[in-house]
Amino acid sequence: MRFDIITVLPGLLESPFAHSILQRAQKKEIVEIHVHNLRDYATNKQKSVDDYPYGGGSGMVMQIEPFANCIEHLKSERDYDEIIFMTPDGKTFNQEAANELSGKENILILSGHYKGIDQRIRDIYVTREISIGDYVLSGGELPAAIVVDAVVRLIPGVLNDETSALSDSFQGELLDAPVYSRPADWKGHKVPDILLSGDEAKINHWRHEEALKRTQERRPDLLE
Ligand code: ADE
Repeated sequence: MRFDIITVLPGLLESPFAHSILQRAQKKEIVEIHVHNLRDYATNKQKSVDDYPYGGGSGMVMQIEPFANCIEHLKSERDYDEIIFMTPDGKTFNQEAANELSGKENILILSGHYKGIDQRIRDIYVTREISIGDYVLSGGELPAAIVVDAVVRLIPGVLNDETSALSDSFQGELLDAPVYSRPADWKGHKVPDILLSGDEAKINHWRHEEALKRTQERRPDLLE
């Protein structure tokens, strides 16, 4: 699977892809992530990518040309299954969308800054608009990193323990049960006895009950 991400701040995306599971997935050649600097596709001398909005108003708008040049260049090299624009007015991202995207081959993500991007980019090229939640960030880079992370860990072979992505909260209809590790007693705070019992059936039953309880308390909407 391949991700291309277009941004004016490529440095913002260096660290999220250079560690842990995302780094390993690239080393194993299961996924390729390519970050493109939008400024390289600006045609004016100043390499500017934004301008004042038509009709007035505050803030700058990212112009169509640099985006179109970059997208056309990338599209001439391969077909994209999705061209995604990260935006707070997009559809809220969730596990179902992550599952769906993990089955794609080539995904292009546009991350914007300033007041927004020229609507024509969205109209002409974008196939899907994604928000990571009802709050506004300074740009689409961190949201893009979140989407890539959520998708990549679902690709077979990326996690060492194949079942571990499947047992995540949200992958079934329940949140995860609480987990514990050594020591069994930390300053009087004890791990539930049942987890030390070695009785697998009882432990599974306990985990299911705890998952149900947690879901009822925190996310009753998931049980509806
Ligand atoms: N860009 C700025 N805020 C965002 C959000 N909440 N989701 C996706 N992209 C964004």
